[in-house]
Amino acid sequence: MALILGIEGSCDETAAAVLSGETTVLSSVVASQLSVHGKYGGVVPELASREHLRSIVPVVREAMQRAAVTFDDLDAIAVTSGPGLAGALLVGLTYAKGIAFSTGKPLITVNHIEGHIHAVVLEARQKGTPVEFPALAMIVSGGHTHMFAASAAGSYQLLGKTRDDAAGEAFDKVGKLLGFGYPGGPVIDKLAPYGNPKAVKFTIAKMKSNPLDFSFSGLKTAVLRWSQANAVDEEVRVRKALLKTDPSPALEQWLAVTPQRTLDVLASFQHTVIEEILNHAEMAAEGLEGIRSIIISGGVACNAGLRLAAAKAGLGVPVHFPSPGLSTDNAVMIAAAAVPKFDRGIFAGMEAAAQPNLTLAN
Ligand code: KG4
Ligand code: ZN
Repeated sequence: MALILGIEGSCDETAAAVLSGETTVLSSVVASQLSVHGKYGGVVPELASREHLRSIVPVVREAMQRAAVTFDDLDAIAVTSGPGLAGALLVGLTYAKGIAFSTGKPLITVNHIEGHIHAVVLEARQKGTPVEFPALAMIVSGGHTHMFAASAAGSYQLLGKTRDDAAGEAFDKVGKLLGFGYPGGPVIDKLAPYGNPKAVKFTIAKMKSNPLDFSFSGLKTAVLRWSQANAVDEEVRVRKALLKTDPSPALEQWLAVTPQRTLDVLASFQHTVIEEILNHAEMAAEGLEGIRSIIISGGVACNAGLRLAAAKAGLGVPVHFPSPGLSTDNAVMIAAAAVPKFDRGIFAGMEAAAQPNLTLAN
């Protein structure tokens, strides 16, 4: 059974994990940079690179210690090579190369998007209900909104993707706009059940050339227009002041500074995003002959409203979500995606480059 160290650092989390075989997670460490980027309302690439540099050595050391293994015990070092922020990717890749070079162990480069898919594949195996193929794989995160037809794990065809903002980016922009800080997704998720999802009618334009493509920027603009029409400046100021005194307010604190009309707009916004995701899943699934399961992964897959709506939607085949810890960026998924590559001897050389725009399939 292969012992693989996974390293992830494509955006704002520095993560390392040790995986034994296909499903035994010996350790998983994630150092979040939320406190660094939060006050800027989004990820600042230069700060992300600096934080990765600070964290990479202690994070990998902790993952190795928790797993009680040494570099000599490893069979391979897996690392995200793209897509993501160039400077951030470079830190993980360079460090992984350093370990591979000094230990003589093989280096495996992993596509971050494939990692998100493997988070689900791994957990489904752990539960004894493996993902059956062909599958529809949806990645809904801060950086990506992609749908793939997967005839097997490792064999993908792109069906549709966002033309502008990613689903998580829409959550983050709406959160920032209304004074809920960064990231917007988790707080909107918590507050949405207190609002009326039908209160504000948001419409999303259909993509003419490919109906399976997504577009979320118009929705964000619609929320902006709503906020201008409803003079929310004062309540936004109060929420920003709250965030200054407490960077992660509790639900009650948020509710105390959020009028009903804003809760309604959050609920309506989230409802529209969820509908859009599930309508696309349904449309894509109808077009895929013999489809046996649906994978929904990436940070937005944490969304409780999305999970509930997916369960109710009756999509006809099992829908697999990762557990919340493996929905957002982590290194377990990177090690898991490396296992089939290890089995087939697909290794990278020291010349492997960071690929900020790496795609999974066209
Ligand atoms: O997968 P991830 O950690 O990073 C990327 O690869 O982009 O996803 C982060 C994104 C952020 O946009 C965040 O707002 C969103 O996932 N997110 C959520 C929730 N938790 C995180 N969106 C909606 N509901 C959530 N509960
Ligand atoms: Zn991600």
